[in-house]
Amino acid sequence: MPNVSEKLKNFTDSVIRRMTRIANAYGAVNLSQGFPDFAPPVELREALAEAALKGPHQYAVTWGAANFREALAQKQSRFMGLTIDPETQIVVTCGSTEAMMAAMLTVCNPGDKVIVFSPFYENYAADAILSGAEPIYVALRPPKFEFERDELEAAFKKNPKALIICNPSNPTGKVFTLGELTVIAELAEKYDTFVITDEVYEHIVYEPYKHIYFASLPGMAARTISCSSLSKTYSITGWRLGYSIAPPAITEGLRKVHDFLTVGAAAPLQEAAVTALHLPDGYYGNLRDLYTEKRDFFLKGLQKLNLKYTVPQGAYYVLVDISEFSSTNDLDFCEWMAQEVGVAAVPGSSFFREDINYLVRLHFAKKTETLQKALRQLELLREKAKNYR
Ligand SMILES: Cc1ncc(COP(=O)(O)O)c(C=O)c1O
Repeated sequence: MPNVSEKLKNFTDSVIRRMTRIANAYGAVNLSQGFPDFAPPVELREALAEAALKGPHQYAVTWGAANFREALAQKQSRFMGLTIDPETQIVVTCGSTEAMMAAMLTVCNPGDKVIVFSPFYENYAADAILSGAEPIYVALRPPKFEFERDELEAAFKKNPKALIICNPSNPTGKVFTLGELTVIAELAEKYDTFVITDEVYEHIVYEPYKHIYFASLPGMAARTISCSSLSKTYSITGWRLGYSIAPPAITEGLRKVHDFLTVGAAAPLQEAAVTALHLPDGYYGNLRDLYTEKRDFFLKGLQKLNLKYTVPQGAYYVLVDISEFSSTNDLDFCEWMAQEVGVAAVPGSSFFREDINYLVRLHFAKKTETLQKALRQLELLREKAKNYR
């Protein structure tokens, strides 16, 4: 038999998605892979039922149905403070996941370098390998997850083609400040690089923090590929609807890549999701309030258990310090925890380039009763951990 691609040796399957399978196998409360266990807004479910009856059921235009792009352009122009042309600047993709991959394949030649902040959402390393690019990692150091300007500039001096930024950040919950984004913008300009953003948590940002779209910074729209999706904003991770927003010349490239990757996102789901994109602005305030409540409830529970954790400014993840139980193999620890304690987490090492094994990621995009159950299970952690190893 011939060998499969050498590229596959350089990354594993997703540890996040693997933890969901492990959670299912042990019947653990799954706080690993970030998706809600509550229903999306009823208007969306009704719109989906209507689309099921009335269609469309055949391929949409490869880069997105016209009514979806129109509604998306209106909504994102409003939030991003930019004028986005649905005809020339949008590609509707299968999640932000595809948008990010398409962005990397569009801008990178084999051997190109790409700056990635560490810790990072694990897809970026695989995206880089699959597009033939080499990541240059720049540390966001715990506990504040700030970068050093000099270290970032040293990375830019290595002639990267692009910088990837996840804002708000998974897994740290960091929301980049205007000052930080301005430093990145100045360097992107100085060293003439693209910036690829992953902004899937754009509407999950806690007071007093504010999300600043990188493309909205002076001069940055011209070099930015903004990727995001409807997954987290409307609690529809299974609908697989995402998009890129970029200048027309880059979008032309993205459309070519996207066409051959997937042809297009599901037509009936695009049709139904137009309803989501037309929801009034109050929806986004309510979403923030809902997640603020969940965050506060979950953190209070962790505090009662005397666990050390990060307080997210955005997104819905908490990094919990497990160093009192284990600091060598967090993957083993997470598997043990799912089996013995009944709560599934993601090992922090799957996000860090640095050798960090004392953090695990839990998420709180769950019903209150699910979070209560997880906290009850976690009460057993310290006692059970006495027998760990
Ligand atoms: C930072 C980040 N990007 C992308 C995704 C996946 O998004 P999508 O469902 O739009 O593909 C996730 C999901 O957890 C994420 O956390």
